[in-house]
Amino acid sequence: MEKHLEEFFPPGTEEGRLLLQVDLGRLPGHVAVIMDGNGRWAAARGLPRVEGHKAGAASVHEAVEAAARLGIGTLTLFAFSSENWKRPAAEVGRLWRLLREKLAKEDGLLVRNGLRLRVIGRRQGIPAVVLREIERVEALTRANQRMTVVVALNYGGRDEIVDAARSLLEDGRVPPKKLDEAAFAARLSTAGLPDPDLLVRTSGEMRVSNFLLWQLAYAEIYVTPVLWPDFRRRHLLEAVIEFQKRERRFGDVRPAGGRPRPRS
Ligand code: IPE
Ligand code: IPE
Ligand code: MG
Repeated sequence: MEKHLEEFFPPGTEEGRLLLQVDLGRLPGHVAVIMDGNGRWAAARGLPRVEGHKAGAASVHEAVEAAARLGIGTLTLFAFSSENWKRPAAEVGRLWRLLREKLAKEDGLLVRNGLRLRVIGRRQGIPAVVLREIERVEALTRANQRMTVVVALNYGGRDEIVDAARSLLEDGRVPPKKLDEAAFAARLSTAGLPDPDLLVRTSGEMRVSNFLLWQLAYAEIYVTPVLWPDFRRRHLLEAVIEFQKRERRFGDVRPAGGRPRPRS
């Protein structure tokens, strides 16, 4: 077992035991997470919702480090949706402030671990002070290759598809007959990234809430009742273990890369 893994998932602990069940040669290349349940976590403790968001920030730190150590290539985190503007102005304000503070504070985590930050979502609408921080950290980590951390901010899957269609229409360089899935995907904010293999949603909600509508076409979905502020490295391992039990067929009758097709 590699040392950097043993440090983070020590043998003899629950994390160490779970790690032994993970096939490190068959990790999901891209894990996407809908970090949900901060408000309920706070309400259960009689605290204001913002305390749930603050506690959720610690889960982000741990999930990023755990994913990087495992060797996951891309981790996408849904942090603020295009619909979250509907929330009371005070909560929206506190959320953006927290996001800015986290970006300012967590650049060390990204640099130390060789991680690249990429933010997806409509930049127009994001408060200018947050945008400056995003651009600073993206530039700082541009050359890092160990894992890409994608943070979805002011992101909506439908917005993204509309923006891609608009960009195709506006520049007119792709003739309609030449438009295929690859040409369309190249206009999405995730261009160049693999599609998610595993979608994790915390807090038990069984919906996609306008997240990565195009990219999730064949993702395996894992819903856990754990609220995001309670999400720890062992929960990531549990999600990966469950993922590795799934049979992915992509519409075929045999598992991908698997056994020969049965006779019809
Ligand atoms: C997720 O937690 C964080 C964001 C959507 C920004 P919520 O704030 O949605 O928490 P619940 O769903 O109300 O518990
Ligand atoms: C999805 O959670 C958005 C984020 C996690 C950022 P929501 O809490 O906003 O989703 P709904 O409203 O329950 O669908
Ligand atoms: Mg929610």
